[in-house]
Amino acid sequence: MFTTISPNTQNPITDLPEDLFTAINDLKQELNAVILAHYYQEADIQDLADYLGDSLGLAQQAAKTEAKVIVFAGVHFMAETAKILNPDKLVLLPDLNAGCSLADSCPPQEFAQFKAENPDHIVISYINCTAEIKAMSDIICTSSNAVKIVNQIPKDQPIIFAPDRNLGRYVMEQTGRDLLLWNGSCIVHETFSEKKIVQLKIAHPDAEFIAHPECETNVLNHANFIGSTTALLNYSQSNSSQKYIVATEPGIIHQMEKFCPEKTFIPAPGIKENCACNECPHMRLNTLEKLYLAMKNKQPEIILPEDIQLKALKPMQKMLEMSL
Ligand code: 13P
Ligand code: SF4
Repeated sequence: MFTTISPNTQNPITDLPEDLFTAINDLKQELNAVILAHYYQEADIQDLADYLGDSLGLAQQAAKTEAKVIVFAGVHFMAETAKILNPDKLVLLPDLNAGCSLADSCPPQEFAQFKAENPDHIVISYINCTAEIKAMSDIICTSSNAVKIVNQIPKDQPIIFAPDRNLGRYVMEQTGRDLLLWNGSCIVHETFSEKKIVQLKIAHPDAEFIAHPECETNVLNHANFIGSTTALLNYSQSNSSQKYIVATEPGIIHQMEKFCPEKTFIPAPGIKENCACNECPHMRLNTLEKLYLAMKNKQPEIILPEDIQLKALKPMQKMLEMSL
């Protein structure tokens, strides 16, 4: 599943200092490290991060950081992305098992065959994919720039869009383009219940419903606003509504409440009763303890085969250029 090429060891959870915040900040100085974190991380990690962002923001930060060590508080494909952009830097991931169902839904061998069956198509891949898939792609995109990137491709150029079919459908709708979609999805964004969301909207007629484009079309159809995590956060600040029903991983609500403590944020409910299935089980594997131990022991480290790293760099650079 992962492209790491050397045995990486998970750290045993022992020898923890009492004040993890201070210990992590000390290690940051010692290692000349930067902590990049995604909004789906637990609140403590978000509060400690040097930079917090969506996938595009995190990739842009990784591309420009001067720190020697990148500690990535996110999932494997995000840390891989930082390594692709920084092959000579040490990139640490607190828990190496922090994968992604969406990245897993696009196995490289099957995708290579799909690509070979459609040789006239260029490949635009959502950043939520493995380094092998990136290496087979022409351009990478994120949820915040997918529409912008597809709009820059000549109209007569056929496009494969992988791996998220929901984001792909959303981009098709926004651009009017016919994309050939890979049939992948995210377990977290698939879990939202249209019925319960409609019931919530009726119970809170003053609330705006905001959603991530990884959600299914039937859920997106009810949204007042659709965007990446950063776009949802910005919208919740600039919009005049005092109440929001939020259909994405609820980690983002920590930032929404920080910026707008006077507003109310309601996490969109999942299909199952009494289930935290809207929390990403992969993202939540990272903890403050594991972050500290990763920095202390300088592992688990992301290591990529050189050929994959080099091939994956080109479509990443293309994305960064096309996002300006
Ligand atoms: P963004 O933060 O780029 O919107 O991506 C959401 C996501 O699912 C990350 O795994
Ligand atoms: Fe992957 Fe979905 Fe988790 Fe994001 S929220 S890391 S797409 S499983």
